[in-house]
Parts: sequence; structure tokens; C-alpha cells
Amino acid sequence: MADTSYMARKSVADIVGSADVEGGHSLSKTLGATSITAMGIGAIIGAGIFVLTGTAAAQFAGPSIILSFVLGGIACAFVGLCYSELAAMLPVCGSSYTYTYATLGEIFAWIIGWDLILEYAMGAATVAVGWSGYIVSLLHNVGINIPPVLSTAPGTVIKLADGTTATGIVNLPAVLIIAILTTLLVLGTKESARLNNIMVAVKLVVVVAFIALGVFFIKPANWHPFIPPNTGEFGNFGMSGILRGSAVVFFAFIGFDAVSTAAQEAKKPQRDMPIGILGSLVICTLLYILVAGVLTGLVPYAELNVPDPIAKGVDAIGLTWFSVLIKIGALTGLTTVILVLLYGQSRIFFTMSQDGLLPPLFARVHPRLQTPHLSQILIGTIVAIVAALTPISVLGEMVSIGTLFAFILVCGAVIYLRRSDSGASRPFRVPGVPLVPVLGILFCLLLMAGLPLVTWVRLFVWLVIGLIIYVTYGRNHSKLRFPERQ
Ligand code: ALA
Repeated sequence: MADTSYMARKSVADIVGSADVEGGHSLSKTLGATSITAMGIGAIIGAGIFVLTGTAAAQFAGPSIILSFVLGGIACAFVGLCYSELAAMLPVCGSSYTYTYATLGEIFAWIIGWDLILEYAMGAATVAVGWSGYIVSLLHNVGINIPPVLSTAPGTVIKLADGTTATGIVNLPAVLIIAILTTLLVLGTKESARLNNIMVAVKLVVVVAFIALGVFFIKPANWHPFIPPNTGEFGNFGMSGILRGSAVVFFAFIGFDAVSTAAQEAKKPQRDMPIGILGSLVICTLLYILVAGVLTGLVPYAELNVPDPIAKGVDAIGLTWFSVLIKIGALTGLTTVILVLLYGQSRIFFTMSQDGLLPPLFARVHPRLQTPHLSQILIGTIVAIVAALTPISVLGEMVSIGTLFAFILVCGAVIYLRRSDSGASRPFRVPGVPLVPVLGILFCLLLMAGLPLVTWVRLFVWLVIGLIIYVTYGRNHSKLRFPERQ
């Protein structure tokens, strides 16, 4: 009966065993702690810091957005420890989907796989909208002006330079970057570790330079009041504003979990994975706090609700050349994040399709290019449509709530597996179980509580749609439940 129950789960031994023989190829173990940390930073720093810091400071938290980052960093540290244990224990195409399959069973694995679309596909759309803001701004510097209505989601009111207003129609630059990157992924242009390291370096230099130069131009008056008084509405400044700010800028931390996908290629996963995951988190958290402090010190927070807030900060310093450099660095950084997210989405669909939960199309590999071309094109098309039509604030909040939900299940998986598979080898153990995973769950819930009701409703509707698809398709095609059909 176990195989036909909704709770059917893969055993830890099966998952680890299949990783050794999967497809007859084994990945070489070449990554050390430094490369893994660089990979993490490559996947983490993106639209969160380059765009959402400004919008969240302007709308929710003011200068106390700094505290929002501290709160977000603490939540991620607990979750990061849990990811480290699972990544070292199940060094397979480690995503929360696989971890959940091993713990809570198929139906929960489906729910999380469906939920991860919010993190990966919607995340890619969010960062693409951020990319659009910076490219429009950079092109303006070189005398090319993209009409604002063609670089803004429909319905969004835009203030024009001449003081009049217009309403956005479509975000074309966001579509363009997704089309380019999808083409690259279909053609199999993999980011080499070296290229990734160079792009990460560019991104880091730009962020550090912003802090190092900006700090000399801070006007401390901009930090007062540090916590602007609440306007009477939950989330609009005051303490609840800090909380809502955290939930929004939580987006900036997403990506450290992507590091767990490299577990199979780590030289010493038991040592390198926790260092890579936690190291990249610590570095990014420190940088975020410093950027937030400098940015709100340079520009009055109310003026930061723009598509390119960091560039606005640089404009306040008055160095045009530096502003151009920042925009190029931001575009580089945002590009790597979109690439990782689009790639990750197709690989998660690939695994889900192999498990029978999605149609075989998603696991079909192009014979010459060796990439899941159809899946990648379908994902690119949908992500491009979403990015063309949706404002960044709506997207960012959906990504945050979806990812927080996935993180809760990952923390739960650590607690569950400690009981169900107590004898399994755990090269890295989260200290203080169950306290640390429970704290992870509570902090994620706290951040979720900071998001508006409409975002909760959207998550709920999204999960219900997912369940309908599972009941009508996945349940009837599951390889675990119908092994004879393999
Ligand atoms: N953390 C990533 C970003 O901020 C997703 O773009």
C-alpha cells in the first residue's frame, strides 16, 4: 500500500545511491570552499540589493531598512544551516524538491516543486525587471531614450521628466534579456566557472566601491528619523514597516540555497558545503547592511522608489563616470542571477518529469545540444510574458513568500529525517536540533507575516492550482507509485 499512498517517499539510501550512477556519468569533484562561496555570491547578489533596497526603504522602512536586512540575514542563517546538513547528507541535484521527496513524500515534494516555480521562474522575471530598469538608465546616459511606457508594466503610473504622467504598456527590455539568456541556455552555453568568477568579481567590486566611495558623502540628516513613524497602516513604516521591509528584501538573500546543487562536485562536501553556504550568506549580509546604510545616507529615503536606486545614490555623489560603472556592474550581476534561475528552473522540472510528476517533454534532451531545449523555451516564454506585464513589487513579494514557504519545509525536513533516518551518514550536522530548525521555521513565518494579505491569497491560489494539476496528472503518472510503467 505504501507505494500507492500519497505519502510514498524515496528513501535516503535510494536517493544517494541513484546519484552515484545517475545517467552513468559522475561529476568530477573539483570545487573547493572558495569556489562554492563565489558561486553562492554569484547567485545571491542581484535585484534584491540593486533595486528592492530602494523601493522597500521608500515604501516601508526608511533608513531602518538596515534592520530589515539584519532580520532577513538571521532567518537565512538558520535555514542555511539546515540546507548545509541536507546538502552534505543528500549530495544529489540537491534542491528542496529532492529533500522533501525523501522526507514528507511525493505529494509534498510536488507542492514544493510547484512552489519553487515562484522562486526560480518568478525570481528570474523579477530580476529581469530589475535589469530593465538599469539598462534603460544606462542607455539614457549614452543618449538613447527608451520610451518609459515600453519599459514599464501595464497599469503602472510613471512620472515623466516634464512633470506629466503616463501609464506603462509593456516591459520590453525585460523580455529581451530573457530571450537572450534562454537562447544561450538552449544552445548549451554553460557559464564556465571562470566566467562566473569574473562576473562575481565585477559585481563585488561595484558593490564595495559604492560603499567605499559613498561613505564619504553621507548626510547623517538623511538617517533621521531612523525609524519613520507608522502611518497608521500595517507595514507603512514603524516596527511593522521593518518587518514588511524584511519580507521584501528577503528576496536579496535568495540564491544561497542554489549552492546546495553543487554538493556532488564539492571536494569535501562535509566541510565545503557549510562553509560555502554560510560564508556566502555572511559576506552578502554584511555587504547588504553597508549598502543600505550608505544608500539611505546619500539620498532621502522617500526618493528611492526608482528602478535604479543605487545609481541614484551615485548621482547624489555627483560622479557621472562612477554612475555608469555602477550600472554596468549591476547589469552584469543581474544577468548572472537570471541565468542561474532560468537554468535551475529547467533542471528542477527535469527531475520532476523524470519522477513522472510532469509530462515527459520536460525531461526531453536535444540530441546534439544536450540541453532540455523544449522545457527551456517554454520556461523562457512564460517568464518573459510575466516580466513584460507585472510590476517588480508584486513579483518580488510572490517570490519571497514562495521561497519562505519552501524554506519552512526544508527546516522541517531536517527534524523529520533525524528521526526517520537517524542512522544515515550526516557529514555536517546542524547544531542544536530541533532548536535551530524550529527557529528557522519561526523566523520564516515571521517574515511571511510581514507580507500583505493579497500576497498570501496569491500563494494560496497558486498552491491550489498546483494541487489540481497533481490530482489530474502527477498522481496518475508517478513513477514511484507506478514503477511498472518505467
Ligand atoms: N538574491 C537574488 C537577487 O537579489 C535573487 O536578485
